Amino acid sequence: MIVGNWKMYKTIEEAKAFVQRVAPLITESQGRIMLAVPFTAIQQVAKLVADEKLSIAIGAQNMHNAEEGAFTGEIAGRMLKEAGARFVIIGHSERRHLFHEDESCIHKKVQRAFQDGLQPILCIGETSDERKAGKRDEVLTRQLVTALKDISEESMASLILAYEPVWAIGTGDVATPEDAQEVHAFCRALLKKLYSAKIANALNILYGGSVKPDNAAALLAEPDIDGLLVGGASLLPESFSQIVNTGVS
Ligand code: PGA
Repeated sequence: MIVGNWKMYKTIEEAKAFVQRVAPLITESQGRIMLAVPFTAIQQVAKLVADEKLSIAIGAQNMHNAEEGAFTGEIAGRMLKEAGARFVIIGHSERRHLFHEDESCIHKKVQRAFQDGLQPILCIGETSDERKAGKRDEVLTRQLVTALKDISEESMASLILAYEPVWAIGTGDVATPEDAQEVHAFCRALLKKLYSAKIANALNILYGGSVKPDNAAALLAEPDIDGLLVGGASLLPESFSQIVNTGVS
């Protein structure tokens, strides 16, 4: 599973040009390819992907936790779904830190995504200071337990988890495969306790933070790394397709 997170990059035309350029570069794959595009591009890119019969799922990078309401400038899950989004990233560290989303808000968004029929990609990760203070596991546990409160086993079957250490996002400072593997195994063990071995083993846990074509293979080789969440390297068809093709080879 390779997910591109475009952040606030690409107009509709740029997004469509990307899809047209990336399609012939991707090797026929069993893996799942997903692109979290800007809101404005969802509808047209989803239509393009459907028309061209490409197996790329289109999704969003954020949504509000209410069904609808007087929330100027916000967007509801059902609007995203209608536009063609199949999934939504929730709790990305840029939302947590730059837009002050707290853990209870993220929990409500996870619940709302399920209610609106969108597959949530829940992001968790510690900051550099938290890691240095020896609080990595404590922070990840709190983030996971809070976000997943009252989420049913049935819903958990379609949730995707992404471990994105904040110090690795956009910095070029990728986690080592061993380090990421240790955290993924920790999260899976915690989910075994919270749910069951069946749920925990079936859950897709992605790694994100400075993933590039030259480090993707080593990360994907780890047993508990089920896929990658790619920011900067998902913006160019060449680097994104290289990562996707690594994932299936
Ligand atoms: P990056 O971003 O790959 O540019 O580090 C990852 C992310 O923010 O999801």
